[in-house]
Amino acid sequence: MTLQLGSITAIVVSNSIFAKQVLLKNHHVSSTPYHLDAVRAHEHDSFSIGPLSASSPMWKILRKIYSTQLLSENMLEAMQSHRQLMLEKLICSITECSLADAFVDVGQLVYDASFNMMCSTLFSMDLGRDEKIKEIKDLMNCIIKEIGRTNIVDCYPFPKEIDPQRIRHHLTSYCVKLFKLFDEILEVRLKFKKDQVKGSRLYNDLMDVILEVMEEQGDEIKREHIHHLLLDLLGAGMDTTSKTIEWAMAELLQNPTVLRKLQEEINGVVERGNKTILETNLIQLPYLQAIVTETLRLHPSAPLLLPRKLEQDICIEGFNLPKGAMLIVNAWAIGRDPLTWANPDLFSPERFFGSDLDVKSQVIKLFTFGGGKKICPGMPLALK
Ligand code: HEM
Repeated sequence: MTLQLGSITAIVVSNSIFAKQVLLKNHHVSSTPYHLDAVRAHEHDSFSIGPLSASSPMWKILRKIYSTQLLSENMLEAMQSHRQLMLEKLICSITECSLADAFVDVGQLVYDASFNMMCSTLFSMDLGRDEKIKEIKDLMNCIIKEIGRTNIVDCYPFPKEIDPQRIRHHLTSYCVKLFKLFDEILEVRLKFKKDQVKGSRLYNDLMDVILEVMEEQGDEIKREHIHHLLLDLLGAGMDTTSKTIEWAMAELLQNPTVLRKLQEEINGVVERGNKTILETNLIQLPYLQAIVTETLRLHPSAPLLLPRKLEQDICIEGFNLPKGAMLIVNAWAIGRDPLTWANPDLFSPERFFGSDLDVKSQVIKLFTFGGGKKICPGMPLALK
């Protein structure tokens, strides 16, 4: 489908065959993001991984840092205790509400828990203990809200400096405040690092790894890259994960048979002596994993992924796609395509239960985490 959004020609891809053709087979022409004006705030387009084309040398350096150092399976394993601790805190909050017969605001609780998991994994700090983290959360909320606003300059050609809704202006001022807080944390950690034995990891968190990266990469990675990397990790990891959990809870409440089956599966594992579910138990919980996949199919948290810009004219299945067009992949429609899924609107984890494919392979086919070279590097963490 072609849409004319003001002066932008947008091509919308709504089935998995086309998505495969465009994102995987023709990745050399579709791995450049389409720059919306907001990403220019505080030079985010120059320092963050998201707006960089997969063919740019800096994207390759940053992507390697993400996949081999920050979000590798080994690193996620090493950081597991942060996630476990925050999960236990979440269970405590729910238990307290339950004992007091109080309402549980699931959305708010899982949002705070996801944010806490990221902050604990990054800085060994969390909302309950650190005022700075509360300030970071407030600024992140402002940034997420501002980025979500429709911006007229994206659809009509305005001179580059003009910012009629002051979206770039507001984002810049939030970034200035946020990066000052990141700097304060960085300075404390750099001081600690000086007194540390070389190679030892005092906190065992991602900041330890980031300081190592800064040392190893020398001039290649500037302080600005670290600021935008921290912003990306917090921004990409908070809303997406918490919205998925919120949708899963909503679907379970709507589908009591599925809920009962899940409770039975979990009770089977807990009865075998574990007080709390651990990440290592996931393998014993195939129905829970099918529920996660089914939730991601029906409710992708980035339903239109992130827009790309076509680098060349291409012809796919007889359709001519022009150079410069915005490419929108509709993951929401791919997950509900009646040609691929029987009863597409029905929440039925059974469709994935017992499959030979693991969750990751199933989710890749859904394009929930994007595709091709720019596929989400946080997928292994999100599926924990
Ligand atoms: C349910 C959870 C998540 C979903 C649905 C999700 C989805 C996505 C999508 C659709 C993209 C764009 C991919 C493309 O253009 O093809 C993306 C990119 C990205 N995601 Fe995620 N994400 C999730 C969790 C995370 C987490 C936990 C992190 C890190 C902590 C993360 C970090 C990133 C980064 C850094 C990028 C940019 C990659 C690049 O441009 O090369 N995401 N994500």
